[in-house]
This record gives sequence, structure tokens and C-alpha cells, in this order.
Amino acid sequence: MSWKRANTITGPTAEGSKYFKRDKVERRIWRKIMDNHHVLFLAPRRVGKSSIVIEMARTAPEGYACIWQNIQSDNSIPIFYKRMCDMIKESLDIYSKTTSSLREFVKGIKITKVSKDGVSIDTVEIDYREQFFNLLEKVKETEVKVVLFLDEFPDVVWNIFKHEGEAAAEKLLADIRSLDDEKFKRNFILVLLGSVGLSHIVKKITGRDDRVNNLHKEYLYALNDQEAKELLRQLTKGATMQVDAQAEAYLLNKMGHHIPYFIQLLVEECDELLEEDEIPHLDSRTIDKAYSRLLQKNERFTDWDSRLSKYFPEKYPFLLEVLRECAYQNTLTIQEIFNISKKHQNDLEFKKDLDDILVADGYLFEEGGRYRFNSPLLRDWWKNRHPKLL
Ligand SMILES: Nc1ncnc2c1ncn2[C@@H]1O[C@H](COP(=O)(O)OP(=O)(O)OP(=O)(O)O)[C@@H](O)[C@H]1O
Ligand SMILES: [Mg+2]
Repeated sequence: MSWKRANTITGPTAEGSKYFKRDKVERRIWRKIMDNHHVLFLAPRRVGKSSIVIEMARTAPEGYACIWQNIQSDNSIPIFYKRMCDMIKESLDIYSKTTSSLREFVKGIKITKVSKDGVSIDTVEIDYREQFFNLLEKVKETEVKVVLFLDEFPDVVWNIFKHEGEAAAEKLLADIRSLDDEKFKRNFILVLLGSVGLSHIVKKITGRDDRVNNLHKEYLYALNDQEAKELLRQLTKGATMQVDAQAEAYLLNKMGHHIPYFIQLLVEECDELLEEDEIPHLDSRTIDKAYSRLLQKNERFTDWDSRLSKYFPEKYPFLLEVLRECAYQNTLTIQEIFNISKKHQNDLEFKKDLDDILVADGYLFEEGGRYRFNSPLLRDWWKNRHPKLL
């Protein structure tokens, strides 16, 4: 039997036919860009930020030169500004392929320092920050609006803080604030993406959390029931695997909160099991089995754990215990979390940590005063990884 697999993707950004359209979110962000606002696009891990902005950059309206890059590895001010210059040039370059009027302008952009006689001086340290602001002056002469989608921006602030110190990180944040000026915003907009709450990192570095208040925040949540069904149908359209209404409801219920990544993972695993047995019809038994197999694949989830220990090493014991208790008990009340925080001498900041880390980054959600894991998969994985021992 020749088996046609479901159109899943588990890990990399979802693009082209793999992308499930998220119209409402795309429109909301475009509205902010068009109103000349810099945007901070925040969402828990794996909810689909990168996929959305890649699609936005690809389908940008007339007059917008857009480009997306993951800038996570940038760890110094020069590297960051060199990237900004390159991205601006590249976005205009792509744009000018469709709009000939900009071609000469793009050719004229040189991102190197030149001496008075026009020869580039390789030995001299190039001031990319200066070049960036010079380039913005040039972009102002055009009719185009450059939009840079900078993925994992909070990591860059963190890296610069680690490598170049607090003053450098502060300077970067001050520069971002200075871009809020009307003189730049007509032609240049930043969309900063992140999953670790930027304000949390900024607070850690500078001791204040008003440093990024100028950015217009946009949040991305999990799919609603209808969207989750549509995603499931998109994934299995034309596939050998057959999902009836009962199996659809069972699978989505098993996933709890509808985070696209977790739905994709479970569908892919179900598909593999059915293919092994050459049975096209999905049933609840196969879904349960696929779920258990997923839990054994540790590498899918370790990142959720290591991110906490990397960014919040001193709070990690507290966060870990909250998550462990929550995994075992299924729900925790705010009082129970407070009790845990006292054990870790974190009672002054516990609510902020809960909101800004565990909720903002998609581990837990709150409903009627009780906290639970967004994803039962992550909950069960957490129980396995961090068992409660006497
Ligand atoms: N719009 C979408 N259509 C289809 N699948 C999606 C979509 N958005 C997210 N996914 C699923 O989630 C995975 C991660 O997507 P993406 O990288 O866009 O999320 P993210 O929020 O940027 O994650 P991270 O926080 O890890 O950067 C994809 O491999 C895919 O399985
Ligand atoms: Mg991403």
C-alpha cells in the first residue's frame, strides 16, 4: 500500500503549503506597522511567531520592503548594527526587483567605511552603528517603508549584556527607543519577536522595566477550537490517514491548549503508527499510543527546561518546584504557589515570576484562580524528567 503522509512539519518554521494562515494576527500587526509603531511581538514558545512574520514579509503590500531574520546569535553592538545595515540593504534589494525606481538607490548603498578619496579602509574599525544611522537618513529620501522582523531579539539583549556588559545593553535599548522618533518611523519600522519576556530580561539587566515601554505589544495565543480543527484538516487533507469527527475531538482534547506545534507532533506520530500497521482510520487507541511514544522522545522538550535554567538560574529551583508540583497535582492554587515561593525565599517576587515567566512563556495558564500546564504533553514530560522522590 502506498502511504501518503500528512503534511506535517515539526520544528522548523511552517512555510508555503505547510503554513496554516493566521489572518487575524497578521492583520493586527500590519495595522500597527501602518500606524508607524514599532512592535514587540511576544508569544510562548512554539505558538508560531516566526512562521507568521515570515509569511508577512513574503506577502508585504506595495510600498513595504520587508525582511525577516533570526538574530539570536548576535552578541555585540557592532555585529548587531552590521546586521541591521545588511538587512536594510537586502530588503531594499529584494523590493527593487519589483520596483525599478529604487534600483539605482540600492546600488549606491555601501556598507563600508570609505576614506576621503573613496578607497575603503579595511584596517580601520568600522563604526556600524554610525553607518546604520547614516543609512536611515538615506532611506528617508525614498517613498518606501523598510520593515525589519528581528526574531529572538531578547536573546540579543542578553548576549550583549553577557559579552559587552550592562552599558552596551543599555545603549542598545536606548537606541531602540530613539527610533521611536517620527523622523525615522515614516520609513523604518522594527518588529521585535521574542518568547522569553523582554521586559523580564531588561529588568534583570537594568533594574528597571520601563525601557521598552515605547514598543507596541502584540500577543499571540494558542489556536481556538475552530482554528485547531482547521489546522488538523489542513494537515490531513489528501493524506491516507483518515480522521473522523470522533477522532478529531479526541485528539484535540488530548492536546489541551491548541498550540500548533503539539498538534503537529501528535498528528505526525499517529501517521507513523498507522502507516506501520497500514490502517488508514485513526482511533483513540492509536492516539493514546502516539502520545506515549511522543513522551519518550525527550529531545523535543528539553529546551523548555534548559531555557529556564539559562535565563533564570537563581530562580530555577523555585520555578522547577512549581512546575513539578503542578505536573503531579494537575492544578495549583495561587496560595499553593505562594507557599512554595516561601520555601525558596521568593515570596516577594513570586507573582511577577509566575506571570512574566511561567505564564508569559507558555508553561502555565490561569483559570478561575488555578494554574495548569498549557500542554498536557509538557506536563507529563515534566513529571518524567523531574520525578518527585521521597
Ligand atoms: N501557522 C502555522 N502553521 C502550521 N504549523 C505551525 C504554524 N505555526 C507554528 N506551527 C508549528 O509550530 C512549530 C514552530 O513554529 P514557529 O517556529 O513559527 O514558532 P515560534 O513561536 O517562532 O517558536 P519558537 O518560540 O521556538 O521560536 C512549527 O514547526 C510547526 O510545527
Ligand atoms: Mg521562532
